[in-house]
Amino acid sequence: MKNQEQNVDQHLRIMHACEKGATGVYYGHRLVATFFYRDLIPTLTEMHAHEMEHYTIFSKLMGKRGVKVVFLPIVWCGGGIIYGVFTALLGRKRAD
Ligand SMILES: [Fe+2]
Repeated sequence: MKNQEQNVDQHLRIMHACEKGATGVYYGHRLVATFFYRDLIPTLTEMHAHEMEHYTIFSKLMGKRGVKVVFLPIVWCGGGIIYGVFTALLGRKRAD
């Protein structure tokens, strides 16, 4: 059974991976917006920056606690990009 500190560390790892995935989603949305929804690019860029901030915050916190990163953050980012591109291609409202 895990103690409270182990649970916190596990949740940090999960949130960190999710933030990396979110950066990918907005990257994918911006990529599609470049071709179809150019007016959304400033908003998507701002949202992407927020997710990068969140990722950095969790990275620093994990570093302070000595928590290991979930397997290859680039995989989570890549998954987010694929998801972001796919959902944005479904329509403007999906990328908005
Ligand atoms: Fe976030």
